[in-house]
Amino acid sequence: MNNQRLLQALYRQPVDKIPVWFMRQAGRYLPEYQATRKQAGSFIKLCKTPELAAEVSLQPLRRFSVDAAILFSDILVLPDAMGLGLEVVETVGPRFARTISSSHDIQQLVIPDPEQELRYVMETVRLLRAELNNQVPLIGFAGSPWTVATYMVEGQTSKGFNIVKKMLYREPELLHALLKKITEATILYLQAQIEAGAQVIMIFDTWGGILQPLSYQAFSLTYMQTIIKKLNNKVPTIIYSKQTHGALEKIADSGCSAIGLDWTIELKEAKARVQHKVALQGNLDPAVLYASPEQIRMQITKLLTEIGSEPGYIFNVGHGLMPDINPEHVNVAVETVHAFSVL
Ligand code: CP3
Repeated sequence: MNNQRLLQALYRQPVDKIPVWFMRQAGRYLPEYQATRKQAGSFIKLCKTPELAAEVSLQPLRRFSVDAAILFSDILVLPDAMGLGLEVVETVGPRFARTISSSHDIQQLVIPDPEQELRYVMETVRLLRAELNNQVPLIGFAGSPWTVATYMVEGQTSKGFNIVKKMLYREPELLHALLKKITEATILYLQAQIEAGAQVIMIFDTWGGILQPLSYQAFSLTYMQTIIKKLNNKVPTIIYSKQTHGALEKIADSGCSAIGLDWTIELKEAKARVQHKVALQGNLDPAVLYASPEQIRMQITKLLTEIGSEPGYIFNVGHGLMPDINPEHVNVAVETVHAFSVL
């Protein structure tokens, strides 16, 4: 656990040890998370109760020597605050009461004042900064406008994304109007998180990879770029886009500080292609954590050997930790990364 490593790696400066944290490091695989969620009554109530949200953010830090804390929230609280009514249905996942299908729907969306409608997030950030007391930096986040839009149009996690793709190809201007409005709201939301104390900003573009390359640029990357530009390098930024490594060079030129990689590309290839423009974060398949501790050590050592000891690397998984992994195996991963020599 260290307050500098993550920031040093994001700025591509030398580190004493490779920084490590995990996407979804707070979550259902931890019994203490399950208990706090039960206490809150539901996942949404947990997100909306700053004391409890801060508590679950801190839980993984009490178990593992990770080098970052991530705000406990969800990318869908922003569209919820814009007026769509989020519910998270047990075993189904997140769902919106209202969806977007017309320009009238878009006009109805509000641009939230983060210190009003999303005050609970800002309170969580402030509580976390106070409780972390500079032990590790705090990562704030939002979804990419495109990924958030898929939920706003489809109403839930989709299999084929037919509805939003129909909009993309039949009414591209309508989709652009929606993306513009989400972008505007996201900029205010992230600026407020930084004001409240977030020291790194990560943008989750989980569904970038369902787009063909030119559509990815026009409907996802451009909007992330606008957000990053507006944040004006106040804090380092990480773009996580899933299954979009065809666009790696373009993402590296977006102005972000780092790229979060899924596991479908070799780290050494990614490194060669981004040419020192950005730091890299990733990219162990989280399913490796189902394997034996011995296997986990072997796989991680292979990955770290591949990236070498040059500055600008953060260990992480290529997507969120699964709910049924053994927490002890997360510890094995942390210890393996920290034991790896960077000299
Ligand atoms: O990483 C962390 O520890 C911070 C917390 C975090 C959550 N969601 C908590 C959560 C973060 C960064 C997210 C981002 C998020 N949310 C993304 C992008 C990253 C990714 O994982 O792809 C997306 C697509 C969402 C939308 C979302 N929220 C889905 C699809 C689901 C259901 C899937 C699931 O795992 O149940 C959620 C719910 C959710 N968000 C949970 C957690 C811990 C599980 C809720 C629960 O039952 O306790």
